[in-house]
Amino acid sequence: QNEIYLAGLSGVVPDLPMSAEGLERRAREQLDAVAYAYVAGSASAERTAAANTAAFDRHRLVPRMWRGTSGADGRDLSVEVLGTKLAAPVLTAPIGVLELLREQGEKLVAEVTAELGVGMVLSTAASTPIEEVGAAAGAWWYQLYWPNDHELARSLVERATAAGARAIVVTADTPGMGWRPRDLELGHLPFLQAKGIANYLSDPVFRAKLATPPEESEEAMRMAVLTWVGLFGNHTLRPADLGRLREWTELPIAVKGVLHPDDAREFVDAGAAGIVVSNHGGRQVDGSIAALDALPEVVAAVGDRAEVLFDSGVRTGSDVMIALALGAKAVLYGRPWAYGLGLAGRDGVRHALRVLLADLDASMGLSGCARPADLDGGVLRSTR
Ligand code: FNR
Repeated sequence: QNEIYLAGLSGVVPDLPMSAEGLERRAREQLDAVAYAYVAGSASAERTAAANTAAFDRHRLVPRMWRGTSGADGRDLSVEVLGTKLAAPVLTAPIGVLELLREQGEKLVAEVTAELGVGMVLSTAASTPIEEVGAAAGAWWYQLYWPNDHELARSLVERATAAGARAIVVTADTPGMGWRPRDLELGHLPFLQAKGIANYLSDPVFRAKLATPPEESEEAMRMAVLTWVGLFGNHTLRPADLGRLREWTELPIAVKGVLHPDDAREFVDAGAAGIVVSNHGGRQVDGSIAALDALPEVVAAVGDRAEVLFDSGVRTGSDVMIALALGAKAVLYGRPWAYGLGLAGRDGVRHALRVLLADLDASMGLSGCARPADLDGGVLRSTR
């Protein structure tokens, strides 16, 4: 925070906007239409995406004064989540196909998160192989889109475990793709898929399913994409399937995309150590509840049996504080850093994350909160 302020005081005008909203606006102006639509788009009428950010308006912080927290020394934002120590309660949300925004996107995010001491959740739909990202990353978790082939799922999970992931985050809300008009209208799904399967192309179980190596011809590549499409998603999964996952890895398992408290309970009963309350940024079921509105009930349902994380709509430092005060242990930060990546590569990701962290640090200090653990219902006034 100090560094950012001092730069401003010496007259340096930053290259990029200093807020998530500003980054979104700049991305709309400057990114190519396909890349922007990919990140910005949500399901159907995009009402849930709008509800996600609006939900934060129903909670207000009540700052406390003169508690010795306003100097930088007075604070420690670090947390331990699912056994992973982080310098702040923030991880980058899994976002697939980063090559659409920048060459080697996943690696850049890995390097920046390692530098800043925050966590990274690597998407299954990454355009960089797991091992390359793992080698560049600090504390990272692997997000699993469970395909309809258990051997392939197993291979992905075993590769991630061997590459140094510290937790597996299974996304439960995507047994199939949401209805996303912007993606469909741009007709770029084939392109998106071709960029999103690099991770699979590097997988021995996946490759064994291909008649011809995809490198040989355009037609072979097309067939590989179609094979991937056929394997994507799994409508047969049940909470008990977490038991299979348990056989493939000893890492802690979190389930992402939970909104109903009964689902949270079932996943925890089935072995989940973490629940990520999320509606996928409104990209799956439009008209579904704002993720923040689901958080308190899920927290109450799992009690101290599991750790709860949150995403969908986090844009500012006080959003992080509100989510933590409602019971989240940490948040996953999504679209804003993806815009940063598209706008300025590594520097853009670093910028987006530093803006969030500086805002969080300043807002914590000014509210009399020294540590994430200080954030509980007592700091909030909420309305319906
Ligand atoms: C996502 N999200 C996502 N989730 C996941 O589990 N695996 C994935 O590959 C992706 N890919 C993805 C791409 C893009 C472009 C977006 C915007 C989102 C969902 C993501 O992890 C997170 O839940 C949302 O981004 C949270 O919403 P906000 O806060 O970014 O609006």
